[in-house]
Amino acid sequence: MKRNDAGAMAIELRQTCDGIDWTAVRDVLKEAGMSFHAPEIHRRAFEGAYNVVFAYDEGTLIGCGRALSDGVYQAALYDIAVLPRYQGSGLGRLLVEALLTGLGDCNVILYASPGKEGFYRKLGFRALKTGMARFLRADAMAERGFTE
Ligand SMILES: CC(C)(COP(=O)(O)OP(=O)(O)OC[C@H]1O[C@@H](n2cnc3c(N)ncnc32)[C@H](O)[C@@H]1OP(=O)(O)O)[C@@H](O)C(=O)NCCC(=O)NCCS
Repeated sequence: MKRNDAGAMAIELRQTCDGIDWTAVRDVLKEAGMSFHAPEIHRRAFEGAYNVVFAYDEGTLIGCGRALSDGVYQAALYDIAVLPRYQGSGLGRLLVEALLTGLGDCNVILYASPGKEGFYRKLGFRALKTGMARFLRADAMAERGFTE
């Protein structure tokens, strides 16, 4: 897939958890280099989200994302992932924009994977100066470059 052709492809976005193959979600997260768990854990996480997005190419899951929110003024993005062979074609932008559209007038925060900050800058995000996190696997997250 060439750059910026996601909009021109027959990519289907679904914004419901109905009928989702959670093993495929786990596989997309895994292949994209994200944290991944048993499919049932992802089902619970996505079903507990405020809104979700899944991208399909001819029935194959190729990307996903979800947002947590109070539905009023605060929200956060998680699990934004695109299969490697589909990256760099505008699909990540489509996923984030679909989630943002469903978040109305909320402030939206996230923690970017190291090296992905530029992607979020392109979408209007700015680096936090006072962001703090209490991760379960604090040492591992520090090793991966998320925290001091
Ligand atoms: C990060 C990710 C979701 C981006 O999706 P993508 O489909 O590759 O990105 P897009 O093609 O939609 O890029 C949109 C814009 O961001 C830019 N961009 C993408 N990745 C970037 C990066 N790492 N650094 C700087 N800019 C980047 C693109 O050049 C493009 O710019 P343009 O609109 O001026 O052409 C995808 O690369 C991915 O799944 N990575 C692995 C998992 C991951 O790290 N997820 C993020 C967790 S916070």
